[in-house]
Amino acid sequence: MLTLAIIKPDAVAARASGKILAHLEQAGFTVRAARLVRLTTRRAEEFYAVHRERPFFRSLVTFMTSGPALALALEREDAVAVLRDVIGATDPAEAKPGTIRKLYAQSKERNAIHASDSPENALQEVRFFFPDAELAQLRSGQ
Ligand code: CMP
Repeated sequence: MLTLAIIKPDAVAARASGKILAHLEQAGFTVRAARLVRLTTRRAEEFYAVHRERPFFRSLVTFMTSGPALALALEREDAVAVLRDVIGATDPAEAKPGTIRKLYAQSKERNAIHASDSPENALQEVRFFFPDAELAQLRSGQ
């Protein structure tokens, strides 16, 4: 099963991408696709469309477009639930010790990493960053 993670602009700027990738691999995830992206305002708005009415929406879009981010398609058994566990709570102050956000996040917004929250969203979010052709190749192992 695949899920999507994004190492966010705060973590990329802090040069924590390597440590976060190592953490994910240690947790049993295989990297199936990776892409360093600079999101445009329109793409960030589209990705976070479910949060459009939230008070933090504009600020979130500004942050997510502020620098490069690393999008990852990750594979593992029970990938969605396990990844959410491994990254920890949205607010690093509430994240359990040893989770990625506890280790690398600065605040609720600048929280180092995104993970899909359901299998349906995971499929959609993986497609958002990795076109079908690329994923088909990845599935057939070519
Ligand atoms: P993410 O997992 O990418 O999904 C939505 C993002 O919105 C979340 O991580 C945070 O970066 C951000 N977010 C969620 N709640 C808040 C909040 N109360 N204040 C600021 N940012 C938030």
